[in-house]
Amino acid sequence: MSEPRQILVTSALPYANGSIHLGHMLEYIQTDMWVRFQKLRGNQCIYVCADDAHGSAIMLRAEKEGITPEQLIANVQAEHSGDFADFLVDFDNFHSTHSDENRELSGLIYGRLRDAGHIATRSVTQYFDPEKGMFLADRFIKGTCPKCAAEDQYGDNCEKCGATYAPTELKNPKSAISGATPVLRDSQHFFFKLPDFQAMLQQWTRSGTLQDAVANKLAEWLDSGLQEWDISRDAPYFGFEIPGEPGKYFYVWLDAPIGYMASFKNLCARRPELDFDAFWNEDSKAELYHFIGKDIVNFHALFWPAMLEGAGFRKPTAVNVHGYLTVNGAKMSKSRGTFIKARTYLDHLQPEYLRYYYAAKLGRGVDDLDLNLEDFVQKVNSDLVGKVVNIASRCAGFIHKGNAGVMVAGDAAPELTEAFLAAAPSIAEAYEGRDFGRAMREIMALADRANAWIADKAPWSLAKQEGKQDEVQAICAQGINLFRQLVIFLKPVLPLLAADAEAFLNVAPLTWNDHQSRLENHQLNPFKALMSRIEPAKVEAMVAASKEDLLAAEAQAPAGNGELAKDPLSAEIEFDTFAAVDLRVALIVKAEAVPGADKLLQLTLDIGDERRNVFSGIKSAYPDPSKLEGRLTMMVANLKPRKMRFGMSEGMVMAAGPGGEEIYLLSPDSGAKPGQRIK
Ligand code: MSP
Ligand code: ZN
Repeated sequence: MSEPRQILVTSALPYANGSIHLGHMLEYIQTDMWVRFQKLRGNQCIYVCADDAHGSAIMLRAEKEGITPEQLIANVQAEHSGDFADFLVDFDNFHSTHSDENRELSGLIYGRLRDAGHIATRSVTQYFDPEKGMFLADRFIKGTCPKCAAEDQYGDNCEKCGATYAPTELKNPKSAISGATPVLRDSQHFFFKLPDFQAMLQQWTRSGTLQDAVANKLAEWLDSGLQEWDISRDAPYFGFEIPGEPGKYFYVWLDAPIGYMASFKNLCARRPELDFDAFWNEDSKAELYHFIGKDIVNFHALFWPAMLEGAGFRKPTAVNVHGYLTVNGAKMSKSRGTFIKARTYLDHLQPEYLRYYYAAKLGRGVDDLDLNLEDFVQKVNSDLVGKVVNIASRCAGFIHKGNAGVMVAGDAAPELTEAFLAAAPSIAEAYEGRDFGRAMREIMALADRANAWIADKAPWSLAKQEGKQDEVQAICAQGINLFRQLVIFLKPVLPLLAADAEAFLNVAPLTWNDHQSRLENHQLNPFKALMSRIEPAKVEAMVAASKEDLLAAEAQAPAGNGELAKDPLSAEIEFDTFAAVDLRVALIVKAEAVPGADKLLQLTLDIGDERRNVFSGIKSAYPDPSKLEGRLTMMVANLKPRKMRFGMSEGMVMAAGPGGEEIYLLSPDSGAKPGQRIK
């Protein structure tokens, strides 16, 4: 055997201002399967990640929720960690970019780049929000498109006509944060001199570090000449202040990839066998892989290797890029219920179903991957339940009944044993090359052969005949041995199934090389169902709940969902706009849970001259809705009625608070009468 490899692996650091969804999970599951494969092979493989906690979006979101950025990122980190753990994504460390290690390493790298002459400073003129007292990134400026005159367009491009422009070209610009008219102001910025690394990048991007499609895309940038990269932002900003430059902060994308190093460094403090320098020094023999989505290639394959080179660290062995997830053939959509959060999935379905489906569809390329929900049910049920688990459930009973659970010795199907052994190197090669789809196809082809062989031998018929007990035992022991090999091959994808199978097989945790041995004269534990079929109703419920997530988010406006760009935070409105809102005192006549909806209550409201039916996403705060009956609240009575899955919603009740258990319905002082208008 060759020396075990030393491998450090990362997935992109998720932003700490939103929930993990199934698109993100494509990346974390892909990386986790690759890491588990390496570990199963006996390599030293370390998998680190972190929350990406800096930037103005996080600062503003925290402000909106009335908490500190530190509180926000702590809450989100707890949520993210739970989602990943429940999808069986097994990080060696999940850290945060807002950490001591990252502050120190960012300062170190910046200092080395500056000392080597790779940092330039110059004045930049930018829009500034005089009310909020901050410079505005392009997405926080809205105005009229200079080309087609469409209103309410972002500072860098028009969604109507597709034009791109500088924010200063927008007509009638407004701050999306305060609504104020921005003014132009100068400020000193720091730039990383990317062009210094042109030659290195030209060579590095073509040295087997990237998929061809990615290298070709980057060549377009490289050939047209690289630009200096603005790495500083002015206060107020949530991030690290640049050492020696008060009021100036590192742009979030400067310290984000350094977060990979920081997470590893944090792990080294807990794991003495790990040596930070051995992984990161210029002459490191360890391998370093980043798994990322196609939207963040320039940061990882241009800026990051240049920063590492300039600061005297090693560069990545490879950057592995994947495409985007679509659901039912289209971009994930909130209204169709296909914008599915990790937690919503987990509320309805087992993590391994999705892990297997992603594995079956993932190749080496950067193509988008479609989660077709019908195909998902069909494929998982047919492959995992119908083919793999089926082998064990067909054979185990006969061994328990006929031979007290002991597998007899002897090879009843040498040709199959041979075929399984012969397939292993090719399956391993597919895993190594991230061609999970090919690995799954080869494994399922073996499962098909095993099933066909058992069907042909039909131990269930033999068991009914006199004197065939030995044959039955030989067939079933062989079946279990083949099942055991399939479990080994699938273990990177299905770690829970593997653990349950190990318990049934009564063996220590299986490693890759165990596929070369067999169980003989071996006592099994009682068999219990290893995996159940996906019920299509569960998938439907998940889609319905995803629509509801959206409705709940809309129904409780104060909770917001962090979509800052589309949702001016506290923009001023004209008095006429306010006056057009029909706000009324409403008596809650009836309040009931909605069958099949996790978050909604159905309210019957008396507003004096009529009754209204309103659905509201407040159930989490009012688990016993009947307690609401008889109390007064406020409603928006002239909101356009909305057709929902459960019926028509004719208005909206008003509540405050961050969400969850903390939602507070507003009430008028006593004496108010249903139907009275708010003036
Ligand atoms: N914070 C940055 C990454 C910093 S890495 C130093 C970021 N965060 S993200 O939360 O937006 O995305 C995290 C990863 O998930 C990225 O690799 C991104 O490409 C991936 N995906 C996000 N949505 C996705 C899909 N719909 N489909 C597949 N991957 C997707 O970018
Ligand atoms: Zn336009």
